[in-house]
Amino acid sequence: MAEALRVGIAGLGTVGASVARVLRDKAAELTRQCGRDIVVTAVSARDPKRDRGIDLSAAKWFDDPVELAEKADIDVFVELIGGDEGPARLSVKAALEAGRHVVTANKALLAKHGVALAEIAEKKGVLLNYEAAVAGGIPVIKTMREAMAGNAVTRVFGILNGTCNYILTRMEAEGISFDACLKDAQRLGYAEADPTFDIEGHDTAHKLSILTSLAFGTKIAATDIYMEGISNITQADIRAAGDLGYRIKLLGVAQRTDSGIEQRVHPTMVPTASVIAQVHGVTNAVAIETDILGELLLSGPGAGGNATASAVIGDIADIAKSRPGFQHAPVFGWPAKELKPYKKARMRSHAGGYFIRLTVHDRTGVFAAIAKRMADSDISLESIVQQAAGAETLAQKTVILVTHETTEAAVRKAVEGITKDGHLTDKPQVIRIERAE
Ligand SMILES: NC(=O)c1ccc[n+]([C@@H]2O[C@H](COP(=O)([O-])OP(=O)(O)OC[C@H]3O[C@@H](n4cnc5c(N)ncnc54)[C@H](OP(=O)(O)O)[C@@H]3O)[C@@H](O)[C@H]2O)c1
Repeated sequence: MAEALRVGIAGLGTVGASVARVLRDKAAELTRQCGRDIVVTAVSARDPKRDRGIDLSAAKWFDDPVELAEKADIDVFVELIGGDEGPARLSVKAALEAGRHVVTANKALLAKHGVALAEIAEKKGVLLNYEAAVAGGIPVIKTMREAMAGNAVTRVFGILNGTCNYILTRMEAEGISFDACLKDAQRLGYAEADPTFDIEGHDTAHKLSILTSLAFGTKIAATDIYMEGISNITQADIRAAGDLGYRIKLLGVAQRTDSGIEQRVHPTMVPTASVIAQVHGVTNAVAIETDILGELLLSGPGAGGNATASAVIGDIADIAKSRPGFQHAPVFGWPAKELKPYKKARMRSHAGGYFIRLTVHDRTGVFAAIAKRMADSDISLESIVQQAAGAETLAQKTVILVTHETTEAAVRKAVEGITKDGHLTDKPQVIRIERAE
């Protein structure tokens, strides 16, 4: 049998401790599948005394993950610390430069430094595997990078943040407010004490930027993403969406257009009958559309110790099975040096249908003025519905408009016009509608 694969794990929190535990519990199966043992020989975390629920005394302890990456007797460095700078970045870079394979679950690091790190990995002839960084346990990276060779991707979109999907699912199912759902999510450990990163779309954007690079062979451009979170979604939106046959999801969408690539993260109305609308709670899903395959949807657990460990261990097993001297597949599907510059499409030219909810003074002429602004912007309406905003106030009405395909620029112009006309009593709500099977 080949020599054991020696693994060093830096970061022994939710994911790191799960990885160590599964490697121990599944040692026999992994040996059979990989043709060699996989052994944890070195570990690092902040607190050497913390009980991690697993005996790691056989592994050498390192206070400094960079030292582990450079000097430990390991073949693979597994980074499960997190963060886009500091020890995570320094240790991954050090491991690659020392010619060690790296496995990471760190989307923030890859979104910011992925291309530079991939260049080092490819120069050194080692693997940089990151299946767990996007959609947790769902094997989307391998699917896009390996199983879909030859396919030209036209669009990739998905529910990439379990916290947001949990909140939207409960808002719809139980009719409770965004704030109440967020508090529950925090109590249950689905949301961080500071939830901004999740609910304002940053986490989704990081993951999307990695998928975009894999889909279109472009450099990662995580700062070039149009981003809106879910914190201004109200019960009125959820109810109106339901009445119209839609469900609201926070989607990350990357799409090829005539003017470049569109990357956007925002609340989106998807048809209630579509497959992606059936993805509830903390589950994640990724839809990939290509010229050969058509549409593929992968869904499953997007976070949590075991689910994420499953993806990390798949990456470690790939390294255990890889043959020395063999050319490895490029990190982002194309050699890092050949990734094309990212050409951003103008968000204002984004074409699609829109849902617009307006709260207006209940007086004559308002309806006609709204219709005129829409016509002036060449927006054709699929439906326009007027309803009392609530029993407590008869002085205002809600107007809900659904447009046929139009552009973001046209919608903004029309809504600015309506706002200027002075008919609104509250901020207008605009939600994009996404075509989905
Ligand atoms: N949790 C998930 O469901 C999930 C899903 C997908 C991807 N990920 C990614 O996986 C990574 C780890 O996430 P996690 O949830 O496991 O985080 P976590 O529970 O906060 O664990 C972080 C670990 O890093 C260690 N650490 C922090 N600073 C360190 C330093 N300077 N030197 C050495 N060790 C240090 C901590 O040590 P102490 O324990 O001693 O404090 C802890 O063990 C992140 O990149 C995250 O984005 C997580």
